[in-house]
Amino acid sequence: MKQNGLFIAIEGMDGSGKTSQLERIKQYLTEKKVSFLSTREPGGIPVSEQIRNVILNVDNHMSGLTECLLYASARREHLIQKVIPAVQSGQLVICDRYVMSSLAYQGYGRELGQAVLDINRLAIQVDQREYWADVNIYINVRPEVGLERIMAKTSDREINRLDLEAIDFHHRVYEGYTKLSTQYAEQFIIINGEQSEEEVFEEIRHVLEKLLAVQPEQASELE
Ligand SMILES: Nc1ncnc2c1ncn2[C@@H]1O[C@H](COP(=O)(O)OP(=O)(O)OP(=O)(O)O)[C@@H](O)[C@H]1O
Ligand SMILES: [Mg+2]
Repeated sequence: MKQNGLFIAIEGMDGSGKTSQLERIKQYLTEKKVSFLSTREPGGIPVSEQIRNVILNVDNHMSGLTECLLYASARREHLIQKVIPAVQSGQLVICDRYVMSSLAYQGYGRELGQAVLDINRLAIQVDQREYWADVNIYINVRPEVGLERIMAKTSDREINRLDLEAIDFHHRVYEGYTKLSTQYAEQFIIINGEQSEEEVFEEIRHVLEKLLAVQPEQASELE
């Protein structure tokens, strides 16, 4: 039987560069002829993209717990329909945000604490196994820096409901990520995101080479 593939989550504050780096990662893996699936949360499949719209719509209002449950619902369905089949077929899966985002944003940002962990453990449990990401590549950028990038006119990303939270919220999320990176140290790889996009990608590329356990020239042998 084929071995399970590697499941990598890209984590970080809003505007930390996750989506930009994922584009570079996709290009790199394609060049190296590594088979992969790239996806995002919340979303990645039609049901979860619809839930995403409900969560992020600036006109919607909801309690923190409702928000947490919606993220967990989107996560579970995306996991079942898309991530698990790919992981089980031995594919490398790279996901823009995963469980650590909920622990940081709802656990620390919304101050829901332990409930978020409990809800998420339930959401990622399939056939008596919890599907945590094998590795979280955490792009470390302070909240002010990320928000400034998002608010800059050059960014084509739409402002969403969470961006509009007070700066205190973003600080709590950032503190949350910092604590999580210690608590789950063996699952975190911390990248300095306050460098040029090229420099950030250089760090990520080194990490990928190690994770894929191949030399740059030999990557295609992974096929
Ligand atoms: N290293 C960087 N230096 C300066 N600007 C950057 C850097 N990386 C990304 N950006 C810019 O910052 C903005 C946000 O980047 P990106 O959308 O990749 O962040 P993100 O982490 O995916 O954000 P979100 O969580 O909100 O989706 C974009 O305009 C992007 O071009
Ligand atoms: Mg993004």
